[in-house]
Amino acid sequence: MSPDQPLLQLEGISKQFGPVQALDRVDFAVSAGEVVGLVGDNGAGKSTLVKAIAGINPPDSGTIRWEGQEVSIGKPQDATNLGIATVYQDLALADNLDVVNNLFLGREEVSPGVGSVSRRLDEVRMEHEAGELLSNLAVTIPSLRTEVGMLSGGQRQQVAVARSLLGEPKVVMLDEPTAALGVPQTRQVLALIKRLRERDLGVVVISHNLADVFAIADRIFVLRLGKSAGEFRASEANEDQVVAAITGLGGNGRGAKAVAEELRAEASAEAPEGTDKPSEGGTE
Ligand SMILES: Nc1ncnc2c1ncn2[C@@H]1O[C@H](COP(=O)(O)OP(=O)(O)OP(=O)(O)O)[C@@H](O)[C@H]1O
Ligand SMILES: [Mg+2]
Repeated sequence: MSPDQPLLQLEGISKQFGPVQALDRVDFAVSAGEVVGLVGDNGAGKSTLVKAIAGINPPDSGTIRWEGQEVSIGKPQDATNLGIATVYQDLALADNLDVVNNLFLGREEVSPGVGSVSRRLDEVRMEHEAGELLSNLAVTIPSLRTEVGMLSGGQRQQVAVARSLLGEPKVVMLDEPTAALGVPQTRQVLALIKRLRERDLGVVVISHNLADVFAIADRIFVLRLGKSAGEFRASEANEDQVVAAITGLGGNGRGAKAVAEELRAEASAEAPEGTDKPSEGGTE
């Protein structure tokens, strides 16, 4: 794999649900050590794209490459085996279990032999591993033995992210990780996402909050009505440009440059009142 080869690369991905074209020939990529913000209006296809990569809703057509090799992701296990982990919005944590048991839910460490002694050893080992993982990530929870139901939203989100890392993935996708979080909790989760990048993971983050996206993303990818509607370097773009791509002002699928040029032209034109705005989709 060459150094600038994306870890994960999608070409021409389409997905239809009955009459709804949820994804229409979408190209998308994420590299190691890169955070990509995936944005778009409700129903734009963001979750569908993540689920296509995660093997939950395999695409109807298109190509997926992993480290340059064409792969087929037909079920969640295929994505896991490649090294792709997903944290969904509902988190799927068990409120009545403590942090350690949530981290290892479904992948409990089993030593050879039976009986209470080996089970206890496993508990000790899991607690040790859990402690290492969470302190490496600087996750802030009161105790490893706290029931997850007692944690704050931000702490729960951090546990869910930590759990996704146990399989040592190379790409982690997060669907709305900061929705419903307060300001300090959001800050903790954003800091955790930055630490994933420092570990050289490729990260895909869906968010409706553009301030959050600008705070962490290297690149911002906009979906609109199932189509690619623009791509921006976060350091070179502003929120207005991204909003324009999300809403379709500046035309559908024309990319960041066209959108930016249109915005500049509009700003300098200072059109008199009553002038017709260019109609949406007129460039198709
Ligand atoms: N399993 C499904 N069956 C039928 N239609 C679906 C299914 N999943 C998604 N869709 C449709 O596909 C389109 C894209 O949905 P998707 O959930 O990907 O949007 P989204 O960008 O994640 O939106 P939001 O921001 O509201 O989460 C929508 O029109 C949605 O109704
Ligand atoms: Mg969604």
